[in-house]
Amino acid sequence: MLAALDMTINKIEHSKLKDINLQNLPFGKFFTDHMLEADYEGGEWKNVEIKPYQPLLMSPSLAALHYGQAIFEGIKAYKNEAGEAYIFRPHDNFRRFNISAERMAMPAVSEEIFMEGMKQLVALDAAWIPQQPDHSLYIRPFMFSSDELIGVRPSDTYKFLTILSPTGPYYNAPMRIYVEEQYVRAVPGGVGYAKAAGNYGSAMYATAQAKKIGYDQVLWTDAFEHKYVQEIGTMNVIFIIGDKAVTPDLGAGTILAGVTRDSALTLLQEAGFTVEQRALSILEIIDAYKAGILYEVFGTGTAATISMIKELRYKDFVMNFNTDEWRTAPTIKKWLNDIREGKREDKYGWMVKL
Ligand code: COI
Repeated sequence: MLAALDMTINKIEHSKLKDINLQNLPFGKFFTDHMLEADYEGGEWKNVEIKPYQPLLMSPSLAALHYGQAIFEGIKAYKNEAGEAYIFRPHDNFRRFNISAERMAMPAVSEEIFMEGMKQLVALDAAWIPQQPDHSLYIRPFMFSSDELIGVRPSDTYKFLTILSPTGPYYNAPMRIYVEEQYVRAVPGGVGYAKAAGNYGSAMYATAQAKKIGYDQVLWTDAFEHKYVQEIGTMNVIFIIGDKAVTPDLGAGTILAGVTRDSALTLLQEAGFTVEQRALSILEIIDAYKAGILYEVFGTGTAATISMIKELRYKDFVMNFNTDEWRTAPTIKKWLNDIREGKREDKYGWMVKL
């Protein structure tokens, strides 16, 4: 039983919704009328408020800007055919948020603030949830250190916010992926499993290099041998090899425990695949490709949903796929969409009604 949330709600006077076309939205460019904000001070969360979406006032000495104590989550809300709003697996993101917080020496956010605050915020801005295919309301909870001090230590104060963005697909077309062997995303003992802002910032240089030669993202490999595949820029990765769905395991703490990854693996099992979470080397992937049993490769993520990969390049070896012929990734994507839109039974209890 959650304690009642002590929260102030200040509503906007005029909605911006009429100025926005909810068709064909880019990812993460538009934001709804309201946001949730809370302050951590003196060892407790206070000033929990839903207020009009607005800029933050901050000091140039704000700790997060200097040392990167900042974490976030990505969650999506949908409307079913009857127009009822649901959030997809938010409790999993709540748990992961506090795992990230612990690793970054930040305070945990209570379930009341994270979940109840999110539900009330989404309910208030529910008219912003797009209903066309591949669209949703992207929910972005985040936290950063807010001490005005450039001494290097965990901050005493933090801000927690949640903002909402009506959004379309993150990737519009099958992707070209470059297997990265020079730069490293994560090491055992590092922060790879946390949704720390710095994991994304530090990935940008390698991704930019890959983009220069025509690739959309990199597939990271392990830090020691550059042999075992890890994850792709904004997504986990799943390989369909024969009758198996194989994905790197989470054991070394170098990979984000994706909620969409877990959902896709659950549905792959339901579809009859043997799911293997284990170390997977790029050489095994190449061997499977040469043997004609590497049938599909796709990314999974909240923003990316299920994103098919049409080309995978390792050194000078290029693996091409005709994604038009694929059955598995499109089926898993459709099943996920159908569950989200209320057209397929939600037998795993993933949809949380507002
Ligand atoms: C997500 O899939 O929600 C992510 O956080 C990836 C990216 C948009 C940063």
